[in-house]
Amino acid sequence: MQNGRLVALPTETVYGLAALATDETAVSQIFEAKNRPRKNPLICHFATPVQICEFAVADPQHEKLYSLWPGPLTILLPVIPGKLPVSVTAGSELLGVRIPDHPLTLEVLKKVYPLAAPSANLSGRTSSTGASHAADQFGSKIAGVVDGGRSKVGLESTVVLPGPGKTLRILRPGAVTAEKLESLGYRVESKQNLPVPAGKGLLSPGQLPVHYQPSIPVILIERHPSDTAAIQKLKDYLINIPVNEKTAVLWYEGFPPPQELTITDAEFLSLSAPYNPVEKRLSDLASSLYFTFIEQERKFDRLVIVAAPETGIGKAVNDRLRRAATETIRL
Ligand code: TXA
Ligand code: MG
Repeated sequence: MQNGRLVALPTETVYGLAALATDETAVSQIFEAKNRPRKNPLICHFATPVQICEFAVADPQHEKLYSLWPGPLTILLPVIPGKLPVSVTAGSELLGVRIPDHPLTLEVLKKVYPLAAPSANLSGRTSSTGASHAADQFGSKIAGVVDGGRSKVGLESTVVLPGPGKTLRILRPGAVTAEKLESLGYRVESKQNLPVPAGKGLLSPGQLPVHYQPSIPVILIERHPSDTAAIQKLKDYLINIPVNEKTAVLWYEGFPPPQELTITDAEFLSLSAPYNPVEKRLSDLASSLYFTFIEQERKFDRLVIVAAPETGIGKAVNDRLRRAATETIRL
């Protein structure tokens, strides 16, 4: 990376395609390798808050947010002008910063920083949560992949914009939930309630309606108004699938599929064991979702999944599912 090459690095959320952020040519290669629109800014990764202060203004009133680092939280802070190529922030006055929670990557970051690293996937496709998934997507286009095992969280970081005062906006839901941020004394505003701050273009340009997609159709079944209605819709859907279409139902929460579902040809793949409390099942689901997408797209013609409960990390799971879905069945 010190010589301007790209390396895929493990983090607890997803693998990142990393380059030295101060090297404009290397940063440009990230956009090329991912086929990423240049208007979509990159997150910079650091090992310590002291490193961050060289590149961005970290208001001490947000200490409680910083205390969540290392962790799955990206904070948008005012960038110090002239420190980074404008391509990193895509011309915005805000810089997305994060201290990832992975021992290997933290070791690297102590020596080489800041590292600009978007998720290690081709633009629009499923993020990599294992080294081989990153290697498959980028191959010889990059210098290498550091194999740090499976990403524990499995979904990209929560992106927040702090202020004014004790308010903040969640621009991308993740494992640091609204409930968690509220417990730190923040009033969490919905995206619409605050004015867009200075800067150009979309506030979080990466949040496009179609994203995270596997190469096969994903059918999402919403669960409102009731779980029973969702199961009925799932049943209706499965019964009508042509026999030669290999279908996998991504299943979780531990409840066994009802009898009438098991007689269809669809295969049930469990993403979670029946733990209590439900939070543990949801974090399991988040952790295995992308991995399962990539593993199963080679084996099946379509994936069917019922939306998660809208609590805790379930919100982030559903955010990704709604963008990954090629078809949504509403109740
Ligand atoms: O968990 C993660 O955040 C992973 C790992 C590798 O750290 N990275 C990641 O990066 O997901 P990426 O580029 O795939 O997503 C970054 C998101 C995009 O939606 C982008 O638009 C937004 O954060 N973002 C980054 N910098 C921003 C900025 N200055 N202003 C507004 N949005 C920004
Ligand atoms: Mg991404």
